[in-house]
Amino acid sequence: MSNYHIKHLEEYYQVYRKSVREPENFWEEVAEEHFLWRKKWDAVLEWDFSKPEVTWFKNAKLNITENCIDRHLATRAHKTAILFEPNNPDEEAQHITYKELSERVNQFANVLKEQGVKKGDRVCIYVPMIPELAISVLACARIGAIHSVVFAGFSSTALATRINDADCKMVITADGSYRGAKTIDLKGIVDEALNKCPCIETVLVAKRINSKINMKQGRDQWLQPLLDKASTICDATTMDAEDPLFILYTSGSTGMPKGMVHTTAGYMIYTAYTFKNAFQYKENDVYWCTADIGWITGHSYIVYGPLLNGATTVLFEGVPSYPDFGRFWQIVEKHNINQFYTAPTAIRALAKHGTELVDKYDLSSLKVLGSVGEPINEEAWHWYNDNVGKKKSPIIDTWWQTETGGMMITPIPYVTPTKPTYATLPFIGIQPCLMDENGQELKGNQVEGRLCIKYPWPSMARTIWGNHQRYKETYFSAFQNKYFTGDGALRDEVGYYRITGRVDDVIIVSGHNLGTAPIEDAINEHPAVAESAIVGFPHDIKGSALYGYVILKDAGESRNHDNLRKEINQAISEKIGPIAKLDKIQFSNGLPKTRSGKIMRRILRKIAANEMDNLGDVSTLLNPEIVQSIIDNKL
Ligand code: PRX
Repeated sequence: MSNYHIKHLEEYYQVYRKSVREPENFWEEVAEEHFLWRKKWDAVLEWDFSKPEVTWFKNAKLNITENCIDRHLATRAHKTAILFEPNNPDEEAQHITYKELSERVNQFANVLKEQGVKKGDRVCIYVPMIPELAISVLACARIGAIHSVVFAGFSSTALATRINDADCKMVITADGSYRGAKTIDLKGIVDEALNKCPCIETVLVAKRINSKINMKQGRDQWLQPLLDKASTICDATTMDAEDPLFILYTSGSTGMPKGMVHTTAGYMIYTAYTFKNAFQYKENDVYWCTADIGWITGHSYIVYGPLLNGATTVLFEGVPSYPDFGRFWQIVEKHNINQFYTAPTAIRALAKHGTELVDKYDLSSLKVLGSVGEPINEEAWHWYNDNVGKKKSPIIDTWWQTETGGMMITPIPYVTPTKPTYATLPFIGIQPCLMDENGQELKGNQVEGRLCIKYPWPSMARTIWGNHQRYKETYFSAFQNKYFTGDGALRDEVGYYRITGRVDDVIIVSGHNLGTAPIEDAINEHPAVAESAIVGFPHDIKGSALYGYVILKDAGESRNHDNLRKEINQAISEKIGPIAKLDKIQFSNGLPKTRSGKIMRRILRKIAANEMDNLGDVSTLLNPEIVQSIIDNKL
């Protein structure tokens, strides 16, 4: 037996040992016992991190949607697969059974085929959190098209960049979306983006808000009439284990967003296995992850992981604050949620409104609470534990990344004793290590360093779309033969890991990864701006917020600075999205630079965080005098 379901700590250690001593045997057993294959593999794993090249389940053939849907039909046809909770609490929830999901995915897949989408084509999905989002993802996978979901809160420029990078031939979208009391004109954003995207041949539009939109003749089509005509039967396309399943963009510290490529078999096995164990999912449980499917958390733990286990997964269209800050807890009560997975930024936002709205609802169905996306601070951890979990539901602080595809370091609830702010132990099959700045591995416990992974795991991204060299440089060059995560971490006296945060220039704002470079680029395009530098600073709700130091071309710039601040934020909103707007903008005469001309962000970070007495040595700077002037004008 492959120990698909781990139930106690001793078993965790035993299975973990097997997974690192005999990784191939271990993953082969999991693959054989729990999944449907059209053809088995010739080799479990081949790898070389120096290239880097990783192949799991070489030459195996399968289709992931047969594993997510078809194989459940014999026993779970009438079980709810997707439970859709609309933005408006007065609109009825929809229970989509596995049978209905099968029919709707097949119809959608047939529409894609009719519209000329073929295996290997890229399809951009820019759809809000409505059932069509999950269904379109699965429909692509059904016919072997590579989905590239773009979060439907991104701007038209961000959307266009991603469409062009992946050379997509179709966009799936909706007329608009609901977000609390607001509506968003999604189709308008798509139209604007497509002015810059010659590769797009077809746009399929789901109707959600019934708004008046423009439909471009010969390019745009309403989705529903096409679905109505399509057959509910569609044979799944045979895929190779290493065929790309999807591309998902993540911000880098420099340049273009990186299109991380995930492939089929390894991703399937690892997301399924982590879901089962990290949530201790049992057959009649109702599971809810509040993320958007536009992020990796939604891909792996709203769509694929839960459906691979025949679970009931909630898809929530709305926001935590509408109609009031009790919305999450109202949903937990209404649908008897057993596992609840959210981000620290949401927890902090809710905690700010006190416990009254939590206490109003019956949360006794909850068994497991999850956290993901950034380090969870101690205060938020306790608030979550005391008020939501009533000290009886373990919190799993799950550390992972878009690049890792699935959870890497996390407690297993009711198995691993938790410790606030610690992601605790590596998941089965994961071999983390901590490195010092000289490239030496730090052995033993009570050490702090850069977090790397020494050995391949099945759901790791295989490349960056169209730029394998960048993949190699970003992840496999800092430390020889190791995957570098970009995060710092410490290991305590019992071997538990605590993630201390990014060591590169990525800032996590409300759980969204933002690279400093694209934001600085957007600011610098303003005609009045000479140069800028962005750093993160601690923020009660967002975790980190953005502080910008901006140097104007004309120091005596006569315009009102508040207007300039607005214009700068407007430019950022248009280029990247409102999430990247700066909380504080300080106009300064210069930036602290090293002699080689590099901005010393360390100093700017300290000033933004009000840690002025702890600036370290500034004497080696090219312009040490600027530091005092920045401090004097701090906001
Ligand atoms: O810095 C880590 C932080 O989020 C980064 C990955 O972001 P992204 O690719 O958007 O994926 C987020 C969802 C998996 C990581 O490099 N991060 C994620 N989870 C945690 C975390 N930091 C601390 N604790 C976590 N549990």
